[in-house]
Amino acid sequence: MTVLPPVPLEPLNLLPDDILTARIQAAKSRLGERCLILGHHYQREEVYRFADLTGDSLKLARLASQRTAARFIVFCGVHFMAEVADILSTPEQAVILPDWAAGCSMADMADLPSVERAWRELSTFLDCEQKITPLTYVNSTADLKAFCGEHGGTVCTSSNAEKILQWAFARREKVLFFPDQHLGRNTGHRLGIPLAEMALWQPGLPNGGLTAEQIQRARILLWDGFCSVHTMFQPAHITSFRQRVPGIQVIVHPECTFEVCQQADYLGSTEQIQDRVRAAPSGSKWAIGTELNLVNRLKKELPDQEIHFLCPTICLCATMFRIDLPHLCWVLENLVQDHVVNRIQVPAREAALARVALERMLNVV
Ligand code: 13P
Ligand code: SF4
Repeated sequence: MTVLPPVPLEPLNLLPDDILTARIQAAKSRLGERCLILGHHYQREEVYRFADLTGDSLKLARLASQRTAARFIVFCGVHFMAEVADILSTPEQAVILPDWAAGCSMADMADLPSVERAWRELSTFLDCEQKITPLTYVNSTADLKAFCGEHGGTVCTSSNAEKILQWAFARREKVLFFPDQHLGRNTGHRLGIPLAEMALWQPGLPNGGLTAEQIQRARILLWDGFCSVHTMFQPAHITSFRQRVPGIQVIVHPECTFEVCQQADYLGSTEQIQDRVRAAPSGSKWAIGTELNLVNRLKKELPDQEIHFLCPTICLCATMFRIDLPHLCWVLENLVQDHVVNRIQVPAREAALARVALERMLNVV
């Protein structure tokens, strides 16, 4: 059999969208059932339309663990999502991220050495293995999920954070939550934990910048991480919409700040936001606080509703945006020629421990 050389990326960048779209369609048809394309809701429209299945982080993680027939999973999303798909899929399946530069700046705010240092520092105040559950938001690197697997902890997503936090408190009295302080704080508050019992752990400072008394008092230690997209939404944006558009309902992602979430009518993951808005009666008015691609898509899909983007400026996830038609075309045409490019492979030991943490989560919700 003749082996064709790999398809280079460069010339594809110069092609117009209609040519790329036709080539992607052709490659996808040739690959058939062997290739499954998963798409996160923040993907740009021209890529999203090629997804066989779409979802929020939790749904996509489940899909990756269930679709064992596909030899290739092309993940149109960001790096941590592709890592989860690799961990939960079978060893025979290859997970591909069309552009390796599609990371998540929030996930980069916690790294294993800093979390291990925090664990060591906390151990000088209390018996961590008995008293603290490490809980990582799914927006984190695989080695942090492995850390949670090894230390009796688990993973949560924006759609199951309340249930998972309850799970954690049923086991140990405190939680170390990383990397998103806002999801941790918003979820803790919804479970009735006073703000005074949630302390911010600043990884650059000795003991996270906390006193012994603050550490003893805290029920949740919140890592000082955040999403640069969702922290752009401000309480003033909500006030302004409520003044200008009577009857408007505000729905935001729980990565938004506490002040924004307090003023919103609803919080939800990307899937939950879509479900709630789709289920609303015609004529409903919404201001939505999450990434722009999702909001624009809902606007087009539901013309009988009045849908607004909550922020007056553009809040776009620049790394999600890196997955474009040239990269999708490049990975698919290489698969057609039996070349697997941009495979995401989590090292075996790390994957096994991370899987423990992820399965704990999937067994709860
Ligand atoms: P969802 O799990 O709600 O899709 O969120 C993922 C994410 O990265 C939001 O910024
Ligand atoms: Fe990460 Fe924020 Fe982008 Fe979500 S929107 S992938 S949290 S940077």
